[in-house]
Amino acid sequence: MAFPEKFITELVERSDIVDVVSGYVRLGKKSGSNMFGLCPFHSEKTPSFSVSPDKQIYHCFGCGKGGGVINFIMEIENLSFPEAVEFLARRAGMPMPEQENDAESRKRARMLALNKDAARFFYEQLSTPAGGAARDYMAKRRIGVATAKNFGIGFAPDSWDSLRSAMKAKGYNDFEMADAGLVRRGKTSGFYDTFRNRLMFPVIDVRGNVIGFSGRILGDGEPKYMNSPETLVFNKSRNLFALNLAKKSKSGYIILSEGNIDVVSLHQAGFDSAVASLGTSLTPEQARLLSRYTNEVIIAYDNDGAGIKAAQRAIGILEKLDVKVKVLRLSGAKDPDEFIKLKGPDAFRNLLSASENQVDYRLRRVTEQYDLTVDEQKVAFLKEATDLVSELPNSLERQVYAIRVANMAGVAQNAVIAEVDRRRKRRLRAAQRLVEREQTRPEKLIQPGQRELRYDDPASAAAEEGLIRLLVMDPALAKSAALPPAEDFSAPALGRIYREVRTRLERGDAVSIAALGPALSQEEMSLLVRILDKPEILSRGDLALRDYIRKIQERKDARRQDTDLLALQQKMKETKGYRG
Ligand code: CTP
Ligand code: MN
Repeated sequence: MAFPEKFITELVERSDIVDVVSGYVRLGKKSGSNMFGLCPFHSEKTPSFSVSPDKQIYHCFGCGKGGGVINFIMEIENLSFPEAVEFLARRAGMPMPEQENDAESRKRARMLALNKDAARFFYEQLSTPAGGAARDYMAKRRIGVATAKNFGIGFAPDSWDSLRSAMKAKGYNDFEMADAGLVRRGKTSGFYDTFRNRLMFPVIDVRGNVIGFSGRILGDGEPKYMNSPETLVFNKSRNLFALNLAKKSKSGYIILSEGNIDVVSLHQAGFDSAVASLGTSLTPEQARLLSRYTNEVIIAYDNDGAGIKAAQRAIGILEKLDVKVKVLRLSGAKDPDEFIKLKGPDAFRNLLSASENQVDYRLRRVTEQYDLTVDEQKVAFLKEATDLVSELPNSLERQVYAIRVANMAGVAQNAVIAEVDRRRKRRLRAAQRLVEREQTRPEKLIQPGQRELRYDDPASAAAEEGLIRLLVMDPALAKSAALPPAEDFSAPALGRIYREVRTRLERGDAVSIAALGPALSQEEMSLLVRILDKPEILSRGDLALRDYIRKIQERKDARRQDTDLLALQQKMKETKGYRG
């Protein structure tokens, strides 16, 4: 391990898991000694994410993720182990010990430095003579100097190697630049600049790192945008353009638009909470990222078929995250940029305050599909609309919208309310059945839930889990019996965890979650936490330990007999075949 154990122990002690997790998850009511919240790692409406202040671990009953405070930061900030340690050390105000960084985080840091230098280079080009074309284009799009500075907008000159030679002079080599997506390898000659004659938008993450670029052509032409490829530091589906700025907004909501130019234009007009999803439709990861900074998203997508489709998809994703969603109706303009240019910021502000919530929006979409003067279509409308209303979690809301639907279709309000009720009950019954079926599946009771980690011998695995649990909870027990070798375990994942625990016990090292962390994969850590979260009574730990060991031995012998029997049968078959 790259860090001294004492340092990690102190770091974990100074990073209370409840404090750290609370920065990301609203933790509510205690149940027993645990606190609960909505899991930040998967979409859910009812909290199944628990944090134990006593054990200093988290565990999600829904998706199975779990670990100590370092694992939590690794997972939620998408960091490697050493980076998460550094992150927490900064938070706790602890100086980092002198240490060798692992190769990957060195590479990552180097790529971020290169990106930052490249961004600075592009920005400087704007004020050179060669930048004239870009300045003209910005003037045409009415992007001001202060805005350019705020976003770090720059210009990639119309040249094959201006960035490449500038970065060479700073000590970066071609391979580093190629890994970062800034240069490409030619078919015959060497490397050349990826971005040429383009307006450059740096993509900056919430920690202020330049992780990639988006380059727009000056004027018309194809491709309109070129983006950095996926790199060690850039993952389009996990980041949002301008979230680094929007996260500081005091507005209380985030405006989600499609284009970089829309975002720039919105910020310039004073709407400093606008972001865009980097040319993809909103991904669940991006939605989760948004939900960390706001609980209200206002969708301002382009006013065309694709924009409407994308908005509907985004609503579906955001709704699952307990985020309020509203949709803007940009009448008379194709996108937010054009709207602001045609009608001004005040008109946009009016739009924002009049924006529809997602129920209104979806209801309107349904309404538009039917001609309500035709009886058949009216019936189809009522089916779809009542179904939509029946999904609303709040009964008052259901009532209000049921009445609205009734009025739209010109039918009795009570009939619609009853229909909504009927559909809701049917929905609940179906959900109930599903849950019951899940819970009564016997193997469900022990299986870890991750496909890679199925137990072949659940009876043995239960004992293997128990043995690990006892040893981690009360390491002194290790001396009360002869511990079996890891090879006796039936489940490979449990065997790996157990081997680590055993080795550390033999060396007299700690076996806490934090100490085991670096040696275990994220899946193994989740499994370990799940094991520790199961009840265990420590008062007669020595007896329990021996029971577990005996069970493991028994099952091992049974498995061996099974294989012997199988081998015997096989042999008999072969002999028969030989005779016949
Ligand atoms: N995009 C992309 N590749 C393209 C076209 C678009 O990655 N070939 C992404 C960009 O992030 C762009 C967003 O999709 O910002 C929306 O596209 P579009 O509306 O065409 O671009 P705008 O930035 O709105 O530019 P403009 O206002 O000049 O149309
Ligand atoms: Mn656009």
